[in-house]
Amino acid sequence: MNTPPKLPTSLYIHIPFCATKCYYCAFNTYSFHKEQAKAYLDALSTEMQIYSPQTSPLKTIFIGGGTPSILSANSLDRLFTDLYSKFQICKDIEITVECNPGTVDAEKLGIMKEAGVNRLSFGLQAMQDEVLRQLGRIHSVEEFHHSYRLARESGFQNINTDLIFALPEQTMEMWQYTLTKTISLQPEHISAYNLVMEESTPFYERWKNGQFNLPSEDTEADMFQYTIDTLTAHGYKHYEICNYAKPNREVKHNIVYWNNQAYIGLGVGACGYVDSVRYTNIRGIPHYNKSLRELKKPIADTEVLTGKAEKAETLMLSLRKREGICTEDYTLRFGESIDVEFGDIIQKWKDLGVLEQTATHLRLTDRGLFIANEVFLELM
Ligand SMILES: C[S@@+](CC[C@H](N)C(=O)[O-])C[C@H]1O[C@@H](n2cnc3c(N)ncnc32)[C@H](O)[C@@H]1O
Ligand code: SF4
Repeated sequence: MNTPPKLPTSLYIHIPFCATKCYYCAFNTYSFHKEQAKAYLDALSTEMQIYSPQTSPLKTIFIGGGTPSILSANSLDRLFTDLYSKFQICKDIEITVECNPGTVDAEKLGIMKEAGVNRLSFGLQAMQDEVLRQLGRIHSVEEFHHSYRLARESGFQNINTDLIFALPEQTMEMWQYTLTKTISLQPEHISAYNLVMEESTPFYERWKNGQFNLPSEDTEADMFQYTIDTLTAHGYKHYEICNYAKPNREVKHNIVYWNNQAYIGLGVGACGYVDSVRYTNIRGIPHYNKSLRELKKPIADTEVLTGKAEKAETLMLSLRKREGICTEDYTLRFGESIDVEFGDIIQKWKDLGVLEQTATHLRLTDRGLFIANEVFLELM
């Protein structure tokens, strides 16, 4: 963790459209309509214009969603033209685009490659068609393979796949199958999330009504441990609670989040963190568009993060990384040792074998990974 630069060098752009909504997902997304997407890109362009003077040359861009790859080839082209005309871009920038299998073709991939996109993230989730159907995904396993192959043929050498475990009725064997099949493709990066039951989703309703069972906590813990052991054995470094990378393939953009450093967030419902202020944009597209037609920042909420709140957030986010928090960097950033604010809490979790001090870092122990949320709750 280094001292944050004065102006942000990282940019998140939210594309809030999906073909249909997956049953487990609570992200801010809407059905895709061509005309609405056009109006949204107009608004986004204005927002870029407003924020560009507040950035240094960009080192990372993450275009997420939603499903950015659902945009037409023309719209993608326009998005990148806007980006390059409004921001200064570092030569060695990392640009990630989230893609949903079945929504990319050679033309779109060509446009992304031409525009300097050098990292793709595919939402795969599972390697069984019946599981994908149960999740409300729009694609089959075969469609994933097709999109993945096309991406490789288009020259993408840094690909992530998102997976989810602890799914309804999922057995250990089903998860092992998904993981093994994914590893056989050798993506450079794998994100493996445990399912979070979000209250606003159809999944939550069905679960509450007893329509399916979730794996027990013990099975979920076994799946997590299996994931760590298997991916590590196959040359992936476990560098964040849910993230695994081949050497030097850690995602630079998210490391900015985990170091609690500044970034600009653009788009409907997006969050940003600038000058110690965490802001959240308006969630609805019509209001977001209107605000930008009036040349106003479309911010719905702000929270000033200074003093203890900033220290706690920095500690909590950094502990997500397997290396933990560099205690010297913390002292440089806040002008005091980490023990001044958190000495008692840290000691308690050290005594319980959940936190440990290395030569340079304070980190979660292997056992601590499984109850990280309890530590985070106490810091909040
Ligand atoms: C914001 S989505 C965007 C990716 C893309 N739209 C897709 O689904 O193909 C990023 C990832 O978050 C994960 N995700 C979404 N909702 C989740 C939930 N309720 N629990 C766990 N993981 C979730 C999925 O793995 C998904 O691929
Ligand atoms: S998981 Fe991805 S594709 Fe599914 S609704 Fe969420 S953002 Fe859209």
